[in-house]
Amino acid sequence: MKILRAKDYADMSRKAANIISAQVILKPDCVLGLATGSTPIGTYQQLIKWYEKGDLDFSQVSTYNLDEYRGLTHDDPQSYHYFMRENLFDHVNIDQANTHVPDGSNPDADAACAEYDTIVAAAGYPDLQLLGIGNNGHIGFNEPDDHFSKGTHCVDLTESTIQANSRLFDRIEDVPRQAYTMGTQTIMSARAILVIANGEAKAQAVHDMCYGPITPSCPASILQLHANCVVIADEAALALCPAE
Ligand code: GLP
Repeated sequence: MKILRAKDYADMSRKAANIISAQVILKPDCVLGLATGSTPIGTYQQLIKWYEKGDLDFSQVSTYNLDEYRGLTHDDPQSYHYFMRENLFDHVNIDQANTHVPDGSNPDADAACAEYDTIVAAAGYPDLQLLGIGNNGHIGFNEPDDHFSKGTHCVDLTESTIQANSRLFDRIEDVPRQAYTMGTQTIMSARAILVIANGEAKAQAVHDMCYGPITPSCPASILQLHANCVVIADEAALALCPAE
């Protein structure tokens, strides 16, 4: 695991966008694993700027998102389908047919998750997987548990995640209680992983991910076992980590 120190959110976002750009330039038909949440928004904005300048071409790229709330339609403004269109897909020349997000609108969890596993496997898994991290160490929506998950599955969100994500909803009651998420094993199947984190609320999770024991009570800690994982975090998120 390589840890890169960023000065602030803008610096973290630029560094992350540089790594994603390099992937797209080196392999124009690459498979990207993408994430939602506040953390990657600056990274996506930087990629859009470089696309507008003519430096990036997404026409052959395909994408697979980590997760989606269960029960939201694709057009619901709180859905991750909507988030990805708003924050990236509608602003670059990606073929939307090549973008994939678990189908939260399918009430049949087993079918929705099995279908997603099939298409991610058929794509050969991401060349590069972008990840944020939850305050409790979750990745995708893989919450702390007594075992590491495997494929895409339906999860009950923890109270801490519901609280953290409620800032994006009008009322906490509106936050869906379940989500479909890629499993930990699927995430680990990506050939390269890029984790981004900013802000003091992430400091404990970032410490436990990078320096804690490898345990499903901090799902991100398994990334220590990945052969090609880069963490880019700002000073606040690295506050509990050794200076190195
Ligand atoms: C959600 C997403 C995660 C994301 C996490 C952190 O729970 N499912 O993929 O990493 O939130 O979000 P934020 O970046 O807003 O702190």
